[in-house]
Amino acid sequence: MLGAPGAGKGTQAERLARALRIPKISTGDILREAVHTGTEIGRRAKAIMDRGELVSDEVIIGVVRERLAKPDAAGGFILDGFPRTVAQAAALDGLMNGHDPLIVVDIAVPEAELVRRLSSRRVCENCGANAEVDSDVDDAGRCLRCGGRLKQRDDDKESVILERLKIYRRDTEPLVDYYRTRPTFRAVNGAQPAERVAADLAAAIDAVATTGTNR
Ligand code: AP5
Repeated sequence: MLGAPGAGKGTQAERLARALRIPKISTGDILREAVHTGTEIGRRAKAIMDRGELVSDEVIIGVVRERLAKPDAAGGFILDGFPRTVAQAAALDGLMNGHDPLIVVDIAVPEAELVRRLSSRRVCENCGANAEVDSDVDDAGRCLRCGGRLKQRDDDKESVILERLKIYRRDTEPLVDYYRTRPTFRAVNGAQPAERVAADLAAAIDAVATTGTNR
């Protein structure tokens, strides 16, 4: 799942993983969990993430290699937030050797909408749900799903959002060209309601799966 910060990768990956009954593997979630539990990787990643920069390819590739080796990934998986650099994409090609083809979908959203989504996002401290600050909250300003307290992600502050978008354009957007010529690549319009994006995404994946390909 490719896309800029705020494109909806996590939202769509979660839906798709539930529908296909395969795990969603989000490098952002794995790193945030590592920060939360205070592991060595988490301690090193925290400052980098707070600045909106990328954790080193070496560390991230190691994290993903380890995660993909777990038994629940044997029947397929959805990657959210990885790869993010050409070096990570090359490593993923190596990891995919002997597996089904990698289907790559780019979720495209204009920059002004990305900034709007990220600056208005809050995350429930209890259940982890995303909430939009003015609409997805109860009368007390708490999570609609569970009543938990909502918090802004440290990297959703405006200056960090702009840095994340700059780094996306420099390091991650080139991946669209890296994958574009493959028969397993599709792009979907992410600037529509999440249900519509999900339908387009499912259609794109079906189209790739039914066409059949060897890469
Ligand atoms: P990560 O957690 O991956 O952050 P990101 O890519 O910046 O993605 P986001 O979670 O902000 O956005 P998203 O596209 O998932 O959108 P979402 O569905 O949440 O990474 C965080 C950091 O970890 C990185 O900056 C880096 O430091 C490090 N890191 C992670 N992976 C790495 C890697 N591979 N290499 C190196 N470093 C790495 O939606 C956003 C908001 O929009 C939500 O509020 C949602 O409800 C809303 N929304 C979603 N869809 C729609 C829609 N269709 N319409 C309206 N609103 C919508």
